[in-house]
Amino acid sequence: MSKKPEQTQPVSVIRDGATLGVIGAGVMGQTLLRGLLSGNLIAHDRVWAGDKNQSTCEAASEALGIAVESDFQARVPGADLILLCVKPNDAPVVLAALRNAGLRRETLLISILAGVGTDRLESLLGTENPVVRAMPNTPAVVGEGMTVICRGRYASKADLQRAQAIFEAVGRCEQVDEIHFNAVTALSGSGPGYQFLIMEALADAGVRVGLPRKLALTLVAQTALGSARMVLATGRHPAALRDDVTTPAGCTIAGLLMLEDGRIRSVLARAVEEATKTSAHLGVGPTKISETSGQRSGD
Ligand SMILES: NC(=O)c1ccc[n+]([C@@H]2O[C@H](COP(=O)([O-])OP(=O)(O)OC[C@H]3O[C@@H](n4cnc5c(N)ncnc54)[C@H](OP(=O)(O)O)[C@@H]3O)[C@@H](O)[C@H]2O)c1
Repeated sequence: MSKKPEQTQPVSVIRDGATLGVIGAGVMGQTLLRGLLSGNLIAHDRVWAGDKNQSTCEAASEALGIAVESDFQARVPGADLILLCVKPNDAPVVLAALRNAGLRRETLLISILAGVGTDRLESLLGTENPVVRAMPNTPAVVGEGMTVICRGRYASKADLQRAQAIFEAVGRCEQVDEIHFNAVTALSGSGPGYQFLIMEALADAGVRVGLPRKLALTLVAQTALGSARMVLATGRHPAALRDDVTTPAGCTIAGLLMLEDGRIRSVLARAVEEATKTSAHLGVGPTKISETSGQRSGD
């Protein structure tokens, strides 16, 4: 079972005298910065961010207490680690800008861009910089994110450890083979969306049987949180935990059988299957997707 890792030895994410830059100070960029700063992984004066939107720069600088600029090129050569947090389609422009700004060959580039593989990042960059690809999710905002990482051809195990330390500042982080990234994007990247829909539906169900909406939502959200914690803390299979709460002739088995009648397992499996196919063509524009493999045609 995967437990939230406890760091025995703090990993230094940048070398002495260097800086860490974040390109794209939107939702995820600011979330990661907040985690790094509040977790004391890095000092405020060693971090900067760049964003093309002036109002985003001002708001992020105010919120985080660091330099956030649209004209960040001069800072690039001093950076030992750059976190790429723009939208997938902005990757070519941003990577060319980093290279032209004098990105040092040793600087680690960590990308959270959905659907953009390490090979594509490396070829857009056109250098031999170490690259780590990551797929975080939005619960990182509350320090409960789930991130998966893998390394490109020039990145070392130490680079992966630096990336792991960054994402553990906002939740859990697992290292996996890049072949799994489309599936991971569909399961944990998009997962909060599924969970929110399920919680909304259960809260509606509570209203249907007479509960005030606010109370119904609190009951549902805390029940989801507690159940998730039980799975992670005990390491027991969810089916075993479910058996424990399923009293013979009781109401849980009555509700569970209705869920099975509604084919909940296959609906969830098909949703993740469809999202995996979609993930395979994110960041590369409209592309024909194979009916069976979920891979881009021509891959
Ligand atoms: N949100 C999630 O749940 C999630 C989960 C996993 C991974 N991701 C990945 O995280 C990335 C960022 O997502 P987000 O939700 O944080 O997006 P976002 O809020 O739109 O942030 C991206 C920021 O980058 C700026 N930007 C665009 N082009 C730029 C350039 N050339 N130079 C500097 N800044 C530039 C954007 O400015 P403008 O607004 O002016 O364009 C925007 O402020 C995406 O690639 C996504 O795939 C997101």
